[in-house]
Amino acid sequence: MSKQDDSKSELAEREEQLQKRYEAYRALDLNLDLTRGKPSRQQLELSIGLDAPLEDSYVLGDGTDVRNYGGLLGIAPARELGARMLGLRPAEVLVGGNSSLTLMYQYIGFAHLHGLAGPGTAWSAEASASGGKVKFLCPVPGYDRHFTICEHFDIEMINVPIGAGGPDMDAVEALVAADPLVKGIWCVPRYSNPTGHTYSDEVVRRMAGVPKLAGEGFRILWDNAYAVHHLTDDPVPLANLMDECRALETAQGLVVLGSTSKITYAGAGISFLGSDPGNIERFSQHLSASTIGPDKLNQLRHTRFLATSEDLTAHMERHRGIIEPKFRSTLDILAEELGGKDVLEWTTPAGGYFISCDTLRGLAARVVALAADIGVKLTPAGATYPYGRDPEDRNIRLAPTFPPMDELEQAVRVFACCVELASVQQLRAA
Ligand SMILES: Cc1ncc(COP(=O)(O)O)c(C=O)c1O
Repeated sequence: MSKQDDSKSELAEREEQLQKRYEAYRALDLNLDLTRGKPSRQQLELSIGLDAPLEDSYVLGDGTDVRNYGGLLGIAPARELGARMLGLRPAEVLVGGNSSLTLMYQYIGFAHLHGLAGPGTAWSAEASASGGKVKFLCPVPGYDRHFTICEHFDIEMINVPIGAGGPDMDAVEALVAADPLVKGIWCVPRYSNPTGHTYSDEVVRRMAGVPKLAGEGFRILWDNAYAVHHLTDDPVPLANLMDECRALETAQGLVVLGSTSKITYAGAGISFLGSDPGNIERFSQHLSASTIGPDKLNQLRHTRFLATSEDLTAHMERHRGIIEPKFRSTLDILAEELGGKDVLEWTTPAGGYFISCDTLRGLAARVVALAADIGVKLTPAGATYPYGRDPEDRNIRLAPTFPPMDELEQAVRVFACCVELASVQQLRAA
């Protein structure tokens, strides 16, 4: 027999073994889920102290009664908390309700439909005057809900590749310089969703100059959702983009976002939007058409619970104690099952909530379908790309934080089996 026949029969044998294992998993009647990028119940329990009675502290030093209407910018101690978390000045921070995603949606709606600098400056008006379309740059793979906001406002999305140090800045600079209707870029600068990468100093420095190359009203949406969500002893450094922008006088073009969703309660935290104080003021005037003020009681609860930087660091260490073993176990199983087989690449994140996997070309949707068929739900293939279209059909996002350890481990083993089975079948068909 030739060498080629040898390897053909080895592949056939491996497929048979994998198929048997796959059917054995099916017989277990599994119902597992690796899609949920949210804190587990055990993590939520860490913030039970938020519910301590507020008693006589409802009236703040500046006379604000947190139980009453008003205070669109947020209470002063919450603006300080956001400033500490996101590397801003308190005057640059607006504190919102329970979701930073809502602030992003509202900010883009404001820019697109009303105009960041008053009547006549709406992105949509500029686009219709020139017969073009508003566009956003989307480093990929990225966060699906960012893309949903763009789709909702009919903003065209342009993929930009992201590497270990952040987006390809040559591509970013060329695209914004070539078209004044490119009005924004989505960035998750630390422990990016889903790749876990943190932007390098060089990328941050170049990003600060992008508003100068772009058309009027351009905004960097700097979604620092995982600013304090470390998984190692040595947090990966991230340069302060606001400092860089102030130095270049481009702070007008920067909008920083963050929240306590994955610090305290995912459904009942507080959110932050940071920018140049003039931008903050205009945005809060826009918000005043829809609300008289945010939930200041929740803001007060949070500022008491996370009163100092040390409180925040200690709290995040407790989260790490719960989720780091889940990440480690997932990575260990991937290495044990698939290491050296050249069928899957995956990231080893130093923080955040996700592990990003790339299958062989054209197999992500097949792997997701194989897993679903035997009771393991994975994030839909394509979800990490605009319009749900992964041009190479390779990326799958794993979210290890939510399931209990035994379920997580079982689901990762099933995932690995599906990856290898799909790969062997592809190789045999080639
Ligand atoms: C990058 C990123 N931004 C924002 C959010 C959602 O934030 P919030 O709960 O504050 O709306 C998530 C949640 O997964 C996320 O991954």
